Amino acid sequence: MADHAKVVCSGRGDILNTGFGMGLVDTAIQSHDISYHTIIEAHPDVYTRMLATGWGEMPNVRVIFRRWQDVLPQLETYDCKKLTAASQTVAGPCVWFVKECS
Ligand SMILES: C[S@@+](CC[C@H](N)C(=O)[O-])C[C@H]1O[C@@H](n2cnc3c(N)ncnc32)[C@H](O)[C@@H]1O
Repeated sequence: MADHAKVVCSGRGDILNTGFGMGLVDTAIQSHDISYHTIIEAHPDVYTRMLATGWGEMPNVRVIFRRWQDVLPQLETYDCKKLTAASQTVAGPCVWFVKECS
């Protein structure tokens, strides 16, 4: 997880992660000096746990409670001009994206 976060955050841009799970990757991402961190999570129990543990109030974090397939078109218009798949976890639905900074 730490190595994935290091690669994804190397550009110090706006990071988008899909699937919070236990928050291991997102915690690792937060250890880097990035601009903004968007997390998309679809499971109500996970989302509730995220809010209970403060992820909804972090200054550079936005939590979107939706399926990533349903919000990617919106992200392309108001958040990410260009999305690049940086790596993919072994857990199937989790795909990482990093916004390329100009
Ligand atoms: C294996 S966990 C992710 C583990 C996480 N990377 C970590 O570091 O702990 C998968 C997560 O993806 C979420 N998920 C599955 N399908 C999703 C989808 N279509 N959109 C958003 N989140 C999804 C699940 O609810 C779960 O929280």
